[in-house]
Amino acid sequence: MKNLYILILFIFITNCKTTIKKENKIGLITNKAMVVSARKEASKIGVDILKKGGNAFDAMVATELALAVSYPYAGNIGGGGFMVYRKNTGEIGALDYREKAPLASERDMYLDSLGAIIENKSTLGATAVGVPGTVAGVFEVHRKFGSLSIKEIIQPVIELAKNGVIVTEKQEKRLQKHRSNFFKANKDSIHLTREWKKGDTIKYNALAETLTRIQKNGRDEFYKGETAKKLAAFLQENGGYITEEDLAKYEAKWRTPITFQYDDLRIISMSPPSSGGICLAQIMNSIEPYDLHNFGHNSTKSIQLITEAERRAYADRSYFLGDPDFVSIPQKELISKKYATKRMSNFSFEKPTSSKDISHGNIEIIESNETTHYSIVDQFGNAVSVTTTINAGYGSKLYCSELGFFLNNEMDDFSSKPGVPNMFGLLGAEANKIVPEKRMLSSMTPTIVEKNGNLFMVVGTPGGSTIITSVLQTILNVHEYKMGMQEAVNQSRFHHQWFPDDIKMEPNGFSTEVKNKLHQIGYNLNEKNSLVIGKVDAILVLPNGKLEGGADQRGDDKAEGF
Ligand code: DON
Repeated sequence: MKNLYILILFIFITNCKTTIKKENKIGLITNKAMVVSARKEASKIGVDILKKGGNAFDAMVATELALAVSYPYAGNIGGGGFMVYRKNTGEIGALDYREKAPLASERDMYLDSLGAIIENKSTLGATAVGVPGTVAGVFEVHRKFGSLSIKEIIQPVIELAKNGVIVTEKQEKRLQKHRSNFFKANKDSIHLTREWKKGDTIKYNALAETLTRIQKNGRDEFYKGETAKKLAAFLQENGGYITEEDLAKYEAKWRTPITFQYDDLRIISMSPPSSGGICLAQIMNSIEPYDLHNFGHNSTKSIQLITEAERRAYADRSYFLGDPDFVSIPQKELISKKYATKRMSNFSFEKPTSSKDISHGNIEIIESNETTHYSIVDQFGNAVSVTTTINAGYGSKLYCSELGFFLNNEMDDFSSKPGVPNMFGLLGAEANKIVPEKRMLSSMTPTIVEKNGNLFMVVGTPGGSTIITSVLQTILNVHEYKMGMQEAVNQSRFHHQWFPDDIKMEPNGFSTEVKNKLHQIGYNLNEKNSLVIGKVDAILVLPNGKLEGGADQRGDDKAEGF
């Protein structure tokens, strides 16, 4: 009896430890405008720009750069990202400022003479770095849609870098976790390897200087100016591939977003080179004919149906998707309702479809939240949804002390070798092979949702391959299960990506009954590797026209607005 009591107590304590606190059920509600991002400093700087009369695009530039200062884990000027926008006129569009493979890249650059993957070469240090797109991205947004001057927008970010940012408990843990890799990737010690503690203030003086030069000289400072020269020299010294020519040739590209209908919603999401919009469309088209609302939130039937739709979409992702400038993608077919019906024709609630029967592969996935997403609605009704990344946490861990920022390890998002998974367990094929100047396939899914022709939701998240499924569940929580924004963000999430053939679940988020039933039907459940799936930052337009923020309490995320 006593042993049983101790066992129950132990299970209770372990469960408490692994449950993420999600205390607030209702998010910040404001009348007109809002920014939700991974750090309160960045959300505040974005909102201050709106208060000065700037629009969502000005706030995008400010928030993006403020995240580079306050959230170096994922915010960046050494990486890239995607923006989806919807103006108050209903005009929509998307910007691709994804990194590119350097000119010196080759298909087999991460393989040894026997054709085996060289450990760490595409993930750690200068060899992993793709040509960064963030500075080109923010300047392109500003050129096309900005209303305030670049000087005015960047100034508060420079001040933030000079004054410093207070370390949170979560940041202390992240820095501690990655310290040994900082030593491995860098020849000299960097200021982030110090034992920073919660409450300390970290100042980013070198980054402040770089931003000051960019403020003065514009976009070309980063791609052709003193910063470009220093960056290229630094990467070469560290054995990387990027040259001044690579930087000079970089350009952000406007893309047509993926759009599709789900009930009375119109979903607007990111197009290739992200797989986000296409996969989201495939999954939502596949589940639309079913009555998810009556199945119930996170019920056995809902989880089954969504899992089977995800399995099929991720199998297609692996085969068909890559940079549209280099490969031809059967986009129209993939996102058609007819194709979804065909793909789901062998689905049954009686038993799982085996991933092996859909295609082949055998891979493992490790989730994390090392990208960052922010959502903006301005006082004029314009909406911006942006996901930006340096790929892994602190990217390649290579930090240019002179310029003050981390470099991405986005080259790992290419398929280095067919059949061998990347760091997210994603399997690639010919469509995502390495080619000079090509963009690596992404899962980032910045999304905007319209209802009856009006702005309804702005949503996105980090989480590697789990990004698409986290965005999906957040939309469904609001639309099918009638939750508010914060409540929708709080819910426990699950994920299936074809291979490995299991359903990843956030621990302690699903009822034992549901889990037992899924197990009985034949599903493999995995609650081990995924303490957190996604870190969603979103905004919902309420029926009375006010805005509700959903800032994910899995992180330090924060909504600000007025
Ligand atoms: O573009 C992609 O899909 C990845 N580089 C995103 C990385 C990410 O979300 C990291 N967080 N887990």
